[in-house]
Amino acid sequence: SDSDPLQDFCVGDLKASPSLNGFPCKSPVSASDFFFSGLSIPLNTSNRNGVAVAPANVLTFPGLNTLGLSMNNVEFAPGGVNPPHSHPRATEAGVVIEGSVFVGFLTTNNTLFSKVIHAGEMFVVPRGLVHFQWNVGKGKARLVTSFNSQLPGSAVLPSTLFGSMPEIPNAVLTKTFRTDDVTVNNLKSKFAV
Ligand code: GLV
Ligand code: MN
Repeated sequence: SDSDPLQDFCVGDLKASPSLNGFPCKSPVSASDFFFSGLSIPLNTSNRNGVAVAPANVLTFPGLNTLGLSMNNVEFAPGGVNPPHSHPRATEAGVVIEGSVFVGFLTTNNTLFSKVIHAGEMFVVPRGLVHFQWNVGKGKARLVTSFNSQLPGSAVLPSTLFGSMPEIPNAVLTKTFRTDDVTVNNLKSKFAV
């Protein structure tokens, strides 16, 4: 859903300041500006969520500048969860490369649409909707996702709510979640940056 480009390409000059719609064009360019190996690097999933994401967006692959798309490599340890998040600037389409993954998104009326899908199967997440994935297979799992934006952005709900800098005041979070300071402080302690 990014704007349409007015030239064949505009490889981003990341040293220049981004303007309204991405980076200024760099010149000269060469073949290597249009290839990226970063999605093939095995990821370390030994973290609390059991998930790791490598993005191929304009910041890691500047050849994508003005082209209106990007991709991620997402790897899961057994039981790993990519926590609920949303992309403000893109619809997401993904394909399972390995394993079995419970994929779900939520409508703005809080209906959950979900399914367990396997290697070769695809899913889609409409722009801006909250979604998550959970590796329900016995082994590891891997997805490749794609976005119709060079920089889709990701608002990750747990860290947005409980790990922001500065913090959201406890008065807001205790009322929002109908709970107490002890619970909110406990959650904040797990997402502190
Ligand atoms: C998965 O939801 C991703 O954003 O790559
Ligand atoms: Mn996503």
